[in-house]
Amino acid sequence: MIERFGVKQCKNVAIIMDGNGRWATERTHRRVWGHVRGSSVVSDIVESADDLCVESLTLYAFSTENWCRPEFEVKTLFKLLKKFLLKERAKLLKNNIKFRVIGDWSRLPEETKLLIADLQETTKDFTGLKLTFAFGYGGRSEIVNSVKKLVESGKEITEENLSDSLYAPDIKDIDLLIRTGGDQRISNFLLWQCAYAELYFTETRWPAFTREEFESIIFNVENRERRFGAVSCMESLESTKKLAEQNGSLFS
Ligand code: IPE
Ligand code: IPE
Ligand code: MG
Repeated sequence: MIERFGVKQCKNVAIIMDGNGRWATERTHRRVWGHVRGSSVVSDIVESADDLCVESLTLYAFSTENWCRPEFEVKTLFKLLKKFLLKERAKLLKNNIKFRVIGDWSRLPEETKLLIADLQETTKDFTGLKLTFAFGYGGRSEIVNSVKKLVESGKEITEENLSDSLYAPDIKDIDLLIRTGGDQRISNFLLWQCAYAELYFTETRWPAFTREEFESIIFNVENRERRFGAVSCMESLESTKKLAEQNGSLFS
């Protein structure tokens, strides 16, 4: 295990936890077995993000499009969410973790909704890692929802106001988006927040993902240069130097 250290670039991390079904079928199991094994990885990755002093971790657990899956698979995912909430509650509280669910989770069983509401309320002022589950979540719906809120409030439609009306405005812009499972797409996840995210795709199926791999991805991305549309620092320094040397002759 690595030492606890404060990340500089990867403050807001999001993960598309994909590849459960393939992981299971590759082992001649039913797809739902992949979800069962995948859900036990979540706790390790949350712990690792906390150790690394990541500020927010947003996990894609169920998309609006996932409603099209067979009923048994959807119900299994519901049960696993409930199991996670019951099993991890004490640890989340102990570690000062602020827990939230974004998306439309109104179709979850009543008991699970109560568990979520209680955990959200209990941890709402916690100052540690912001842990967010995206459940019944779609990036396009989130943007439409945000625009509607702005129109209703009569506020001007600006980037800042729209950001402030998202499901969880304090998540801010995502610095790093990881997708496990081998596919290289965003699948309607955090479309607004990922405008300038670093993307990292790994072949590893989610149930086989480890905290070691997570940590090595963070280290890799910590060393990337993010330019946000500008030129690199070195280039900028070099060109300033050259301009000074040419003493303005460029424009004369
Ligand atoms: C991700 O794994 C979990 C959910 C979408 C709920 P999948 O179930 O999509 O697994 P693959 O992509 O089919 O292997
Ligand atoms: C994205 O995975 C959703 C989650 C991981 C929860 P999917 O497996 O649903 O995405 P597609 O269908 O491959 O785009
Ligand atoms: Mg998938």
